[in-house]
Amino acid sequence: MPRNTTVQEPEVTKDGQSSGPGSTAAVGIKDVAVRFRTKNRDVTALTDIDLEVPMGQFVAIVGPSGCGKSTLLKLVAGLLKPSAGDVLLNGERVQGARHDIGYVFQRAALLEWRSARRNILLQAEMRKMPAELGRRRADELIAMTGLSGFEDALPHELSGGMQQRVALCRALLHEPPVLLMDEPFGALDALTREQMNTELNRIWRETGTTVLLVTHSISEACYLADQVVVMSPRPGTITEIIDVGLPPERDYTETMGRPEFQEATTHIRGLLGAVSAAD
Ligand SMILES: Nc1ncnc2c1ncn2[C@@H]1O[C@H](COP(=O)(O)OP(=O)(O)O)[C@@H](O)[C@H]1O
Ligand SMILES: [Mg+2]
Repeated sequence: MPRNTTVQEPEVTKDGQSSGPGSTAAVGIKDVAVRFRTKNRDVTALTDIDLEVPMGQFVAIVGPSGCGKSTLLKLVAGLLKPSAGDVLLNGERVQGARHDIGYVFQRAALLEWRSARRNILLQAEMRKMPAELGRRRADELIAMTGLSGFEDALPHELSGGMQQRVALCRALLHEPPVLLMDEPFGALDALTREQMNTELNRIWRETGTTVLLVTHSISEACYLADQVVVMSPRPGTITEIIDVGLPPERDYTETMGRPEFQEATTHIRGLLGAVSAAD
């Protein structure tokens, strides 16, 4: 059931460094702002962002184009420094590119000359994981994502959905505690997207990974997430955090028919509609 949990109270003190109860959150974003300075103008992409994601939670982020969703993920990955505020991963301040995260983008970004398995193993090579461990993890993930039988296929021999499965395996190979996904299913047809959603729900439950998913689809957000963060147009702020209130294991069709799901999607649609009407 959507609860009007307007911007969550951060659990730790504003200095963000102290070991408060919130410091064990998987992701902590405290009073964050991001400004981009370009030659001709300054753009405030994000302002007043406070968000705590407990370990193992699935959080979806929705909002209009350009509201700073990708910027938010880049902050967590350490690919971008906030202009103000702090970003914490497992209670530790993010100060540079982090290796303990997995990242999946809208395009699978696979190396065309490498087989599915060797694309997945790229992660092991980059991290200099022991070869045997990398191979074992890759085999487990290939089985988990239903890619068995396609290990030796080249990317162009795979469907869009399969390519995204390969990208997901690559992102999960090193067992990252936090998985960041930036519109990962946006380029897939509706049916494949549905299948990928079902699989992602299962993989999330099996791995216990904390997930931050950016999506344009309100129903995808509500089907997958524990909490949905709704953002306002630029400069991006958090309009509201909605607790979807569904059990972790979710059958696709059954979930769509549940009152909690319908209430949450209607509520978010209203928020985003109000936002674009005011824009
Ligand atoms: N490297 C950058 N330099 C300048 N402006 C940027 C840069 N990255 C993003 N922006 C701007 O910041 C805003 C938020 O971008 P982004 O996070 O990509 O939005 P979203 O993912 O929600 O569509 C946009 O106005 C975008 O043009
Ligand atoms: Mg984006």
